[in-house]
Amino acid sequence: MNDFIINFCIFRFVVCQHISTLLTSLRTKENTMKKILPVAALCGIFFIGCGGAQEPAAEAPAEGGAASELVSGYDLAKGKEIYMADCASCHDEGVLNSPKTGDVAGWTARIDQGMETLIQKSIDGYNDVGNMPAKGGNDALTDEDVADAVAYMVNESVAK
Ligand code: HEC
Repeated sequence: MNDFIINFCIFRFVVCQHISTLLTSLRTKENTMKKILPVAALCGIFFIGCGGAQEPAAEAPAEGGAASELVSGYDLAKGKEIYMADCASCHDEGVLNSPKTGDVAGWTARIDQGMETLIQKSIDGYNDVGNMPAKGGNDALTDEDVADAVAYMVNESVAK
């Protein structure tokens, strides 16, 4: 793994050098500085990346990890289709006091109940601050369909 990181850094170094050589040949042109600056900045980012590359595995899951963990195992693409057909009519705009999809603040406490509870209440329907119809009012949906739709909504409604 370390060998890979070192090789990767060397590769990036070579690429940067190559770009510098190209730029040197452009030096005669009067707007060279304008061209060099962004590329130099890019090279800088590459090198910062090299420094941070020591712990890539540790950093990656932290970003949005909570959301992907919550919705892993659900079919989000299918969930989106179901959502568009059977749930968006209320949840896109927050009709009838429904939690608006994408409203992170409005969803936090609901998501804290856990996926199973969210899904079960969506299957059965419930009436707390508004009327959430069983399966969004479409009896033809399976429990799994509803679960996928809920996962899609949750995924759209967490901070990313
Ligand atoms: C007729 C409007 C309407 C439709 C259609 C609808 N919902 Fe809702 N939904 C609501 C309302 C209103 C609430 C808030 C109910 C409350 O908290 O009292 C709600 C709440 C929810 C919640 C939050 C549950 C919780 O425990 O906080 C989820 C999840 C949800 N709906 C999923 C869905 C899904 C999935 C569909 C489509 C299959 C759907 N809804 C279709 C009105 C609707």
